[in-house]
Amino acid sequence: MENLAREKLDFKYDSMITGLGFAVPKKVLTNKDFERMVDTSDEWIVERTGMKERHIGEEGVVTSDLCADAAKIAMERANVSAEQIDAIIIGTITGDVGFPATACYVQNKLNAVNAVAFDISAACSGFLYALELADAYIASGKYKTILTIGGEMLSRVTDYQDRRTCVLFGDGAGAAIIQPSDGTRGIISTYIGTDGHLADLLMMPGGGSKYPASIETVKERMHYIQMAGQEVFKAAVKTMGDAAVKILHDSGVPGDKLKLLITHQANTRIINATAKRIKIPMEKVFINIEKYGNTSAASIPIALTEAVEQGVLQKDDLCLLVSFGGGFTFGAVLFKY
Ligand code: UT7
Repeated sequence: MENLAREKLDFKYDSMITGLGFAVPKKVLTNKDFERMVDTSDEWIVERTGMKERHIGEEGVVTSDLCADAAKIAMERANVSAEQIDAIIIGTITGDVGFPATACYVQNKLNAVNAVAFDISAACSGFLYALELADAYIASGKYKTILTIGGEMLSRVTDYQDRRTCVLFGDGAGAAIIQPSDGTRGIISTYIGTDGHLADLLMMPGGGSKYPASIETVKERMHYIQMAGQEVFKAAVKTMGDAAVKILHDSGVPGDKLKLLITHQANTRIINATAKRIKIPMEKVFINIEKYGNTSAASIPIALTEAVEQGVLQKDDLCLLVSFGGGFTFGAVLFKY
């Protein structure tokens, strides 16, 4: 059994992460701040979510600013110039404007003149969707250097009068440069999926073709995130667990070979349940939700960057990323760092 597992841990890698970076705005909202804004308490928020603080963009800051700041750090660490970038793929649901894509603004800010640039709308799974695409592009030989980003300013679509949602969200961006593998490490497997039948449980209804922006939609507070918390919670626990089990099984990697599990940071109770499902002890689970809250597509690349910066994830370590978000969307990426 052990031999079989070891044999199976010998993989063919197409792409690898060569640089990581993240950026968050300076301004912080603490649980105590929320006690002054809505009927809530530090105790409730910590107990029910694990969150203590979240970063909120000052007036004038836009999503592409955070994305570009995160990208510059990742590019420097990967020793990649702006001209070298072939594609910029950003997972975001809170872009600078309705259109064009935030990736277009980031391309311009970086002066990445040779890069095709586009966004992916997959809510909290946006970064893992971007990673799968980047890996496939590299495997195909089409591109050699891809900038993937998860970037959000959820504060701009958060209803600060609704205690059920306002305490949850924060702003930030995380970036990863993806390039051809050196042959010894990289992305082992990616798996993304969608379950559209529960799409309305987590959404922002206003401003699209169904409810175009009007005085009415503003009055009805339809330009804010709306979430059926408990239903989303249950779906997140089941779906993230299923995704983690599937990717490990399909890749032939026993859970105990993982050095680190990084899931979307929406709720410590969901993270704990996912770890339990694949029997990963909590020492091998990276959690930073207490500092940043739920930053949607940005949460995984921010956590991944911090894990590397803190030395928790090191070269040749096996790491599993798992996400779940509005759509519903979900995904898992298994890689050797
Ligand atoms: O990022 C994409 C995926 N998102 C998620 O995965 C989020 C999933 N959902 C959750 O994490 C949890 O459902 C929440 C954190 C959103 C809510 O926690 P919960 O334990 O499911 O609470 P609940 O919605 O069942 O509400 C329990 C009680 C309610 O009071 P009553 O009706 O029992 O009197 C709520 O009104 O807690 C109340 N409540 C609050 N109380 C104090 C809800 N929000 C707050 C709050 N402060 N901020």
